[in-house]
Amino acid sequence: MTPGPEPRLRVIWTDPVTGRKGYAVIDRMVNGLAGGGTRMRSGVSLEEVERLARTMSYKNGAFNLPGGGAKGGLDIDPHDPQARGMLSRYVRAMRPLYLSGWGTAEDLGVTQDLLGEVFAEQGLGLTVQAMLDRSGNSQAAGRRISQGLAIQVDGIGLADCIGGYGVAEAAAACVDYKGWDMSEMRVVVQGFGSMGGSSARYLAKLGAKVVGVVDVNGAVTNPDALDVERLLKSRNALGEIDRSALGSGDRESPGERWLEIDTDIIVPAAVADVITADNAAQVKARMVVEAANIPTTDDAQRRLYERGVVVIPDYVANGGANAWWWWTLLGVIEADADQAFKHVSEVMRDTVKGMLERADASGVSPREAADQLSMQNLDDLAEKLGEDASEVPLEPVKA
Ligand SMILES: NC(=O)c1ccc[n+]([C@@H]2O[C@H](COP(=O)([O-])OP(=O)(O)OC[C@H]3O[C@@H](n4cnc5c(N)ncnc54)[C@H](O)[C@@H]3O)[C@@H](O)[C@H]2O)c1
Repeated sequence: MTPGPEPRLRVIWTDPVTGRKGYAVIDRMVNGLAGGGTRMRSGVSLEEVERLARTMSYKNGAFNLPGGGAKGGLDIDPHDPQARGMLSRYVRAMRPLYLSGWGTAEDLGVTQDLLGEVFAEQGLGLTVQAMLDRSGNSQAAGRRISQGLAIQVDGIGLADCIGGYGVAEAAAACVDYKGWDMSEMRVVVQGFGSMGGSSARYLAKLGAKVVGVVDVNGAVTNPDALDVERLLKSRNALGEIDRSALGSGDRESPGERWLEIDTDIIVPAAVADVITADNAAQVKARMVVEAANIPTTDDAQRRLYERGVVVIPDYVANGGANAWWWWTLLGVIEADADQAFKHVSEVMRDTVKGMLERADASGVSPREAADQLSMQNLDDLAEKLGEDASEVPLEPVKA
């Protein structure tokens, strides 16, 4: 990612009970707002949270959304019995940031249900309360968000499906652009939680063959295609597959060897920096669709680009989830699954096609093309709306 100015704010917090650290970074504000999720992962660092916050700024720019980027991170394993209490204490400590413009949501290791529950306990309203308060009609915006969060699509919450649906649409836009055929594409997805699970679901619905999925416990493969819906039904809240649900042709293998699985598309949808200069040569796929944030290092991206492997950058490919929140609270769409899917599909396909055309026309990678456009959009929005909060309510911005 293009190096940028220093973030607006970095916060390091120490949990008084466990002694573990929590971080928050506001990369930049637009119109007094910054959006970005909150993750729990043992080993998360300030540097990781800072890179993720910057990615959120690019994400808002890519989809013309009127806010800057932010991120939160708690250095604790989400399975740890202390994790719930630490999240609660972290949210209490970050209160001034939420009140001054940070809207957050689920991320790696944190479900939206859990985060919503903790916000309610702390009397902080909804996790995107900052945006609701600026929307001009916080009640109507809050109602749309609450109704949207309650929608289930074939057993999965809309907020947990829409991001992966966008990933699948981003992949389809690239397949169309390249003149390939989705029904001939094999897919491997690393991570089977909100993003990975729904990416697998909607790629399978588009006709691709999902031949491998990986969770924190290892890989499950089947060269003839996995039964994605069956595996989805077996997941726990942290996106872990119950191995007793595997079909007769399914096989288990070590998760670290996921890049060795024969495939055409890989979808990293878990942790950061999993494709690096050291393993980029092992990538067999012709396309990497980044459902996770920052899964491919800059060096690896350069190497893949030189080899003709298309990388659809994180903040474009996974941007449907973030955009859904904004579009719903701004009233661009109602709390309605069909409207959400239609809007994400149209905007994602246009955005990916535009990015690939721009990249080819200027002889740069898709990421470089997207970086230029996203930052330009965000600078334009900041110039129009200001960085700090004004009294003017938010207006829907044309995507
Ligand atoms: N949830 C969202 O709305 C959203 C939106 C955009 C981007 N993202 C990004 O997508 C990624 C995943 O987020 P999520 O919300 O789907 O998380 P999640 O907690 O719902 O699921 C994470 C999945 O990754 C697996 N996993 C964890 N560590 C792993 C490891 N070391 N190796 C292999 N698999 C591992 C888990 O077992 C689980 O299947 C993150 O990078 C996040 O920032 C999330």
